[in-house]
Amino acid sequence: MHLRCINPDCAATFELHACLMACTKCGDLLEIILPPPSIEPDDLKRVWRDRKCSYDPRDISGVWRFREFLPNGYTEIVTMGEGNNAAVVGRKTAEWAGLRNLRFKHLGWNPTSCFKDLGMTVAVTEALFVGARVVACASTGNTAASLAAYAARAGMTAKVYLPAGCISINKLAQVLDFGAEVVQVEGSFDMAMDVILREASGGPYFVNSINPFRLEGQKMVMFEMLEQLGWLVPDYVIVPGGNLGNSSAFGKGVAELRAAGLIDRLPRMVIVQAEGANPLARMWRSGSTDFQPVEAPETAATAIRIGNPRSWKKALRAVQQSGGFVMDVTEEEIAEAKAVIGRDGIGCEPASATTLAALRRLSAQRMIDRDAVVVAILTGHALKDTDFILKSQLREPAMQGKSHA
Ligand code: F0G
Repeated sequence: MHLRCINPDCAATFELHACLMACTKCGDLLEIILPPPSIEPDDLKRVWRDRKCSYDPRDISGVWRFREFLPNGYTEIVTMGEGNNAAVVGRKTAEWAGLRNLRFKHLGWNPTSCFKDLGMTVAVTEALFVGARVVACASTGNTAASLAAYAARAGMTAKVYLPAGCISINKLAQVLDFGAEVVQVEGSFDMAMDVILREASGGPYFVNSINPFRLEGQKMVMFEMLEQLGWLVPDYVIVPGGNLGNSSAFGKGVAELRAAGLIDRLPRMVIVQAEGANPLARMWRSGSTDFQPVEAPETAATAIRIGNPRSWKKALRAVQQSGGFVMDVTEEEIAEAKAVIGRDGIGCEPASATTLAALRRLSAQRMIDRDAVVVAILTGHALKDTDFILKSQLREPAMQGKSHA
């Protein structure tokens, strides 16, 4: 078990617990290389199912339940029973998108109401293992809230760097509630990342998604999803793209499952960005191999208001390996899709609604078959951004002010 540079021309390896966030030889991203499991695929599936009847905290977690595919050797894990998220069938949503077989895997139904918890349980467990006292991240809100909670559980100090005035008030409230130290950075998320990366060396333990331990936890979404589908591989997995950690993690998860013989093909992965924060979609459309950040990203889906996603190479690799693609959707499409997800009794935050918006367009343009088996990943809970809901739902001016009461 070790860290390896993703650049095939470098492929330098490092000790697993070396606390590295980039290759020290060429600066590229690192990933965790795990030995193949020694248990047969059918036995693994049975072990994982049997653990669902256990009260061991590792088995209650929808991440650690699949621990044959995780770094191991930890004496203490920091878990809040994350995962175990329903793959709920879309009804009005499916009809609206023109699909017959749509499910939403709702990662907003996690301890801090976002998918970040799935990665944070592993990253904060690793931070504890290496003796970190202070943990830090840059964030559009959700990573910060999740880190703040898991750090509090582990007795650590969380320091979060937020783009001033650009994150949902609900997420800021969570961060404060969990007792994190807030650093407001003038500018975008990308600038907050630059600031934290400058300060990171020798400082706090860093848990943005360039931390490969984060991705190990997040890849378990694919394990749980496939188990929920009886190990039948869906045709498509649709995922919102911001800093591109989640899509990278999903790609790693399905690749490992295929290599171990638990599935025989990969679902096609579709990454969806907001039109105003779409560097990977632009690159994909242009056919270029030259990645150009978006200088001033803009979208009301503030979670994915990111112009310079750090994990783009891993995400691109995942899309290419699966025969998928990258696209973007407009602000109007996001708002409309979000309202439809709400009306289906499911709800999600704006960034998550990019998935349904994309599906409606793809189905209208006959780029996706009506009968395709599709899983859309909802990344955050509706209550993560109540301002967005109130602004878009209460259009009547009289309904918006307190005077109406
Ligand atoms: N959806 C939500 C709700 C998010 O909070 C994020 C990212 C994404 C999608 C995109 O995921 O970055 O892995 O491609 N939020 C980060 C944050 C950037 O700081 O909370 P990604």
